[in-house]
Amino acid sequence: MNSPLRALRCAAAAARAAGRLMLRQRAAPKKINRQSRHDIKLELDVRCQKLIEKTLLRSFPQSAVLGEEGLAGRQDAPLRWVVDPIDGTVNFTYGVPHACVSIALQERMAGGEFATVAGVVYDPFCGELWTALRGGPARLNGRVIHVSRRKNLAEAIVSIGFAKSRASLEENLPVFNALVRRVRKIRMMGAAALALTYVASGRFDAYVESGISLWDIAAGGLILECAGGEFWRQPLPDGGKFRMIASNGLLRAKLERVARAARKTS
Ligand code: IPD
Repeated sequence: MNSPLRALRCAAAAARAAGRLMLRQRAAPKKINRQSRHDIKLELDVRCQKLIEKTLLRSFPQSAVLGEEGLAGRQDAPLRWVVDPIDGTVNFTYGVPHACVSIALQERMAGGEFATVAGVVYDPFCGELWTALRGGPARLNGRVIHVSRRKNLAEAIVSIGFAKSRASLEENLPVFNALVRRVRKIRMMGAAALALTYVASGRFDAYVESGISLWDIAAGGLILECAGGEFWRQPLPDGGKFRMIASNGLLRAKLERVARAARKTS
């Protein structure tokens, strides 16, 4: 990747453009394309992704896009953008102003694996833009950010995400049940990319979820690592989903112990 800064600026411009569209559509009736028991897909998700694709592919015509709303560009390209056009779609649909745009740039490595080299998360409701380039600091609206230093679960705020499938809910419930008694506060905010950037910013101390998708975590995971945090994830057998513990690095082992014990006794 010969111009990571140009890529970051391009991703930030795309995220801001999609964020503006979200704000314009905030009070408008929402057209639902598809829904299931725990999920909603809006027509606006698709419109935001198309807008992001246009911006990214105009500047990087040789790249690919892997988005929550589908694929675009050359899928064999050495660079791919991983895009969640609206992370927190259910919040957005219900008028809860906690949703964001998430864009990561990944580079294809020898062996076909991808490494994330740039990440942008934009919350249009608060006007907060998180950015990171691998190897550099993480920034919020241009200012360098760091994870918290809290090392005891008893003083931690831990965010939990409940993904969309029944299996992931059942896996997370015992973890929730155990953690809620151990930590200062549990938070369930409904936008994974923002939960990751909140850990990166030291607002939360950790975020745990199982059954999460790549587009929810690719940008936020890099931003967290660049802010000094630890982004542990494990691919799940059911295609493209992950189990993850994102933390300030001081709490991961403790969280893992609680989670493992909770799942074993459930
Ligand atoms: C969802 C949100 C939610 C998380 C789910 C995600 P979406 O993303 O990030 O907080 O718990 O796992 O799928 O569907 O709103 O883009």
